[in-house]
Parts: sequence; C-alpha cells; structure tokens
Amino acid sequence: MYLQKRYRILRSNPAIRSMVAETTLTPSDFILPIFIDEGENLVYEIPSMPGYYRRSLDETIKDVKECWNMGIKSVLIFIKAPDELKDNTGKESWNPNGLMQRSIKAIKDAIPEMIVMTDVALDPYSSYGHDGIVENGEIVNDPTVEALVKMSLSHAQAGADFVAPSDMMDGRIGAIRKAFEQNNFTKTGIMAYSAKYASCFYGPFRDALDSAPGFGDKKTYQMNYANRIEAVKEALMDEQEGADIVMVKPAMAYLDIIREVKNSVRIPVSAYHVSGEYALIKAAAKMGWINEEKAVLESLTSIKRSGADLIATYFAKDAVRLLS
Ligand code: PBG
Repeated sequence: MYLQKRYRILRSNPAIRSMVAETTLTPSDFILPIFIDEGENLVYEIPSMPGYYRRSLDETIKDVKECWNMGIKSVLIFIKAPDELKDNTGKESWNPNGLMQRSIKAIKDAIPEMIVMTDVALDPYSSYGHDGIVENGEIVNDPTVEALVKMSLSHAQAGADFVAPSDMMDGRIGAIRKAFEQNNFTKTGIMAYSAKYASCFYGPFRDALDSAPGFGDKKTYQMNYANRIEAVKEALMDEQEGADIVMVKPAMAYLDIIREVKNSVRIPVSAYHVSGEYALIKAAAKMGWINEEKAVLESLTSIKRSGADLIATYFAKDAVRLLS
C-alpha cells in the first residue's frame, strides 16, 4: 500500500503525542469554587456532590492554604447565609461584617497572593431564592443592579481581587465598573458571568447553598439554552462595559458557545464546569460505569480546547494531582 501521508506517525508513542499536543492543562488554568458556612470545625459533605464540602471559615483557610501550595492560583467564594438573614432586599449581601466579607479578609490575610474572586448575586441572601429583588412576582432589573453595586463595593472594600457577577441583570457590569472608579477601587477586577444559561445542571449547587428559587425558575434572566448569537451579544456588551474576564456557564454542553465567545472578545474567557457536571462524573464513576480520572482530564482538556483560558471547576484539586 502506498500512502503519501500517514497521520498515525504523530500518534505512535506517548513522547510524540505529548510533543504535538495542542492543548495542555496547568494548575493556573483552574479557579476553585469554595462553599463557606458559619461555625467552626465544620466540614460538611454535600450529598449531591460526593467528595465536595461546605466548610466553616477556619477549615476553609486550611483548605485554601493547601490549594495554594498545590499550585492553584484562584478561589471563587460562595457563602451560605442563615435563613434569618434572608429578605427581599438582599441587604445582608453588603454587610461589612457578613460571612462573605469576613471570608475575603481572612483568606487574603492568610494567603495574600491567592486571587480571591467572589460571587455577586442575591440568591444566597434572598428569601425568594432569586438572584434579584422581587416585585409582584417579577425579578426587577434596575433596583437589583443598585443592590449588586453595593454588594460589589463591599467585596472590594474587604479585599477581593475580582467580583464575579452571576446574576444576569442588564447593565450591572457597567454600573459596578463605574462605582469602582468613583470609589477608588481601581485595582479590583470583574469576571462577568456573561453567557449564563438557565440550566438544570445547577441543581447540586442549590443543594449546597440551600438557594433553590422559591417560586418559578430563572428563565427571565438566565439565557435560553437554544441560543448562541445571544451569548456573543452578552459577552461583547460585558467587554464593552468594562469586564476583565467573561464567562460561559455551564461548560460541557456549551463548548460551541465557549468557542464562539472566544472568537468574539479580546479578553480572557472562563468557563464554569458546574455542579451538575461534577455530579454526573461522580455518579457514573461510583456505579463503576466510567473511569473518573480519565473523565476529569478529558472533560477539562475539552473545555480548554474549546477556547476557555480559565476553568472554574470542583475538580481543580483532583486535576492538579492527576497532572503532577
Ligand atoms: C448563583 C449561582 C449559581 C451558580 C453559580 N452562581 C446557581 C444559580 O444560578 O442558580 C451555579 C454553580 C454550579 O452549579 O456549580 N447566582
């Protein structure tokens, strides 16, 4: 048989395969989401996220130190607010002594070089479990943006490196950017959840923080998963309004969107490999139907290949271990 070209030559052994690999994962690709609760010595395993924990702040600090020593450069903080602090204004979200603000300070004090990012949305603080303020059964945009600005300023004040608005209200990136300028927070960045879809894959996360919407769904603010052009529109708007990083979320079912956004903006793109995507792999592995380690590396490499410069993933520590 005569063949002019034999493509298998570049696949013939591990050495050549690694030499011509187009995509490689490194620890600095990852952002580790962390769940923080009140209390002490608390390490609570989330039932729908086996191997993943909600911790009190003291335990969180130990964990974040370990992450830094492993090579992880960034954490994305979520907190669980007690029910008695929830209301429809979300005012606990900008309490200077709130759990989020205390956590930011404590992590920056303990590991100053760690890039601390914070979730900005009202859902953990909302008595309705929605990302915004509710009036007559509707999630109202402009009053919510005002609340998100206060929340973002309080995170910047506490020392956050980046705020990460995940609420999908219109105009919040521009409003937050402007408030940072006016208040001299000129070093605080914004990672915008620009293309965040209304997805069933957030289920386990809502268990972790007890933040499921009390009525209806999030489809009037999060995007319809049938749409692609809309993601580009959202990302371009956030870039223009002053976002430093834009995000696509979820990741695995949205690889086309990640690529489309990557080709459209001139700032880094992150992708959020969400709780349900974590749970899928864990569940199949538990059943013995899939090899967990291989599934993790294949998934994360695919997300990066599709165009993500950064990946928020609950598998960050596992991936770093597997890579070393
Ligand atoms: C809250 C928020 C959610 C996630 C990140 N920020 C849930 C939601 O929008 O209902 C999901 C993260 C995950 O599933 O891992 N605004």
